[in-house]
Amino acid sequence: MYYPQEIVDEVLANTDIVDVVSAHVHLKKRGKDYLGLCPFHNEKTPSFNVIPAKNMFYCFGCGAGGSAITFLMKYNNCTFTEALKELADRAQITLPAPNYSEETKKREKHRQDLLAVNKEAATYYYKLLRTRKGMRGMKYFTDRALSPETMKMFGLGFADGARSDLTEHLRKAGFSDELILESDVAVFNEKQGLHDRFFNRVMFPIQDVRGRVIGFGGRVLGDAKPKYINSSDTMIFDKGRNLYALNLARRTKADHLILCEGYMDVIAMHQAGFNQAVASLGTAFTPGQAALLRRYTKRVLLAYDSDGAGVRAALRNIGILRNGGLESSVIDLRPHKDPDEFIKAEGKEAFQARIDNAENSFFYELRMLSQSYRMDDPASRTAFHREVARKLCTFTDEIERENYIAASAEKYFIKTDSLRRLVAQYGNAAGYGQTAGEARRGRPNTQNASKVSPDRSRKLAADRRPDRFVPSGTSDGSLPGDTVGKAAAAGGQRNAAAVPADEKAGRGADPGRRAPAGPTRAQKALWEKQCLLLTWIVDDPAVFAQLSRYLEPQDFDGAVYQRAAGLVWEQMGSGSGTANAASVISAFETEEEQESAASILNMHLEGIEDADDRAKTLRELVYFIKQASLERMTQNGGRQSLQELLSAKQKLQALRTVRFQL
Ligand code: UTP
Ligand code: MN
Repeated sequence: MYYPQEIVDEVLANTDIVDVVSAHVHLKKRGKDYLGLCPFHNEKTPSFNVIPAKNMFYCFGCGAGGSAITFLMKYNNCTFTEALKELADRAQITLPAPNYSEETKKREKHRQDLLAVNKEAATYYYKLLRTRKGMRGMKYFTDRALSPETMKMFGLGFADGARSDLTEHLRKAGFSDELILESDVAVFNEKQGLHDRFFNRVMFPIQDVRGRVIGFGGRVLGDAKPKYINSSDTMIFDKGRNLYALNLARRTKADHLILCEGYMDVIAMHQAGFNQAVASLGTAFTPGQAALLRRYTKRVLLAYDSDGAGVRAALRNIGILRNGGLESSVIDLRPHKDPDEFIKAEGKEAFQARIDNAENSFFYELRMLSQSYRMDDPASRTAFHREVARKLCTFTDEIERENYIAASAEKYFIKTDSLRRLVAQYGNAAGYGQTAGEARRGRPNTQNASKVSPDRSRKLAADRRPDRFVPSGTSDGSLPGDTVGKAAAAGGQRNAAAVPADEKAGRGADPGRRAPAGPTRAQKALWEKQCLLLTWIVDDPAVFAQLSRYLEPQDFDGAVYQRAAGLVWEQMGSGSGTANAASVISAFETEEEQESAASILNMHLEGIEDADDRAKTLRELVYFIKQASLERMTQNGGRQSLQELLSAKQKLQALRTVRFQL
C-alpha cells in the first residue's frame, strides 16, 4: 500500500459510493440499497447492488464488488493510486507524498529486474535473427510469408544452436545467475550447469498489455516435437492472465476481438489487417483471460481450429466467455485448418466474409449438439428438442429467451409453441438462468433466489454439502481462496460437466508442468462459513465481543481470509468498535484481491428470524472454523507450543456449551 490506510479511510469516509457509481451507472433505490445494470458484465435484469451502509458495491451476476476505489479501478481500468487520487479530488482532500513500504519497493525492484532480463533476451534473439547466424530462422519466417514489418511488429527473433550464448550474454550484461534462472530464459542441470532454455527455435516474445516482454514461445523449424515450448510462469508471467498480442489488439477499431489458438494465427491475421486478433498462451483459455478481454470488448469471435480438438475448445470457451459477461460467435474456417492457412489459401476478403458471417455461439452449440442426434428417428429427435429446451432455460432475461426460442424453433423445425411449453416446463422445475446441467437435475436457481432458507441454515454446521449455501461470491461459484484456490478457480468453470476441462493441455502445456490441485469440497465449505462469519461481524458488530474470546484471525484458513479477518479484528478492537467493509477492502492492493475481500464480506445468511436460532447458528459457525483450525494445528505438528494447542482445545470445548446472546 502506497498510502497509509488512515488516508485511504479518510478519503472513503468522505466519499458517497452512490454518487461515484451513479455517475456511470443508472441506479434505482431499492430498500436501503441501490440497484442497477452491472457495467462489468452483460445483463438485462439488474443484479448490481450498491450498499451505502457498507460503502461498497456488489454484483450478484458476475461477482464484481468492492469499494468506490475498486469501482473506479475496474471502470476506468486504472491503478489503485489513480482511483484514490480521483476520489481525493472529489472530496477535496490533499494526498500526502506516497509512502512505499520496504517490502513493496523490494518486490517492485525484483519485477523490474525480471522485466529487464526478458527485454535483454528479446533484444538478443531479435538481433540474432537478423545476422548470419539467424539465416535459418529468417528463411523459416519468410517461407511462412511474413513480411519484415510484421516480424518487426511482433519482435520476432531466433535462438540458434548454441546452448549457452544467451546465458553468457546476460551474465556479461550484469544479471545474476539466480535472476537469469528465475526469468526462465535459462535452465539448470548438473551436467550443463546454467544454460539456455531455447535453442534452434524461432522466437516469439510474449508481451503484456503494456507491451513489456514477460516470456517467450519458441517454435522448432521442422517437425520435431514439442512443436512449441513456452516460458514457465514466473513472477511477471502468468499464462492464465495474459493474452498474446493484446498489447496491439487493444487499439483496434473493430467492435470485437478475435480469439484464436496460435501465435502464427495471430500474426497472420494482423499481417492481413485483422489487428483485433489475440491468442491464449499455449494453455487452455481461462476465466482470468475472459476477464481481461472484458476490459477491452463486449464481443469475442472465436477462430479455433476446425478439427475435433478445436471444436471442443471452442465449446468450452463459449461457456467461459459467457460466464465472464462476454458475447461470442464462432468463425467457420472450413475447409481450412486455422486462420493462418485460411488467409493463405483464400485471402483477406474471404476472411472478412467469415467474420461477418460468424455464427452466434448459442446456435453453434445447438448445431454441435444436433450432430449427436438422429433427426430422422422420432425418439432421438425428441431427446434433442428436450436438450434444446434445457439450454434455452439458461437465458434469464425473458425477452432474450423468447427471441432464442423463436429462432431455435425455426432452425430446427419445431413448433414455437411446443418449444416454449417445454422450456416453461423445465424452467418452472428448476428456474431460469442456470446451466443446462442444473436444469436437468432440477436444482433451484441459486442466482435469483439469493437467500438461504431457514431450515437449511439450521443444519448449518452439520451440513457437509457446500452447494446448499448461497455463495454471493464470484460468478463461477468459486470462492476467494489462497493462491492454490485462485489458480484452481481461474482454471475451473461452472459447467464443468459439459466438456472435458483441458482437452488441449496435452499439446498445449509445457512438459512436466502440472496445474495445482483445486480446493477440496471440505475446504470450500470452510471458506463459505468464513465468509458468512466475517460478513456477520461487519453487519452486526455486537457479536464480535462474544466470539473474539474463542476465535482469532489466525484461525481462518487461507491467506486472503486471514488478512481480511486480521483487518476486521483490528478495526473492531479500535475505538469505533465497528468494522468498515470499504476500508477492509481497500487495504488490499490489487483489483482481484479487493474483489475477493468484497465477496468475503458480502455473504449473508438470511431467513433465520428467531434470535435463539441465530445464536445457535452463530455458535456453530464459530465452532466449525475453530475446529478446522485446531485440525490444521495438529496436522502441522510442532509449529505451535503445547500451550497454544491446549488453549485452542479448551476454547473449542467451551464453544460446545456457550450461549451467544443476540
Ligand atoms: P497448433 O499446433 O495449432 O500450432 O498450436 P499452430 O499455431 O498452427 O502453429 P504452426 O502454424 O504449426 O506454427 C496452437 C498453439 O498451441 C500452443 C502454441 O501456443 C501454439 O501457437 N502449442 C502448440 C504449444 O504451446 N506447444 C506445442 O507443442 C504445440
Ligand atoms: Mn498453423
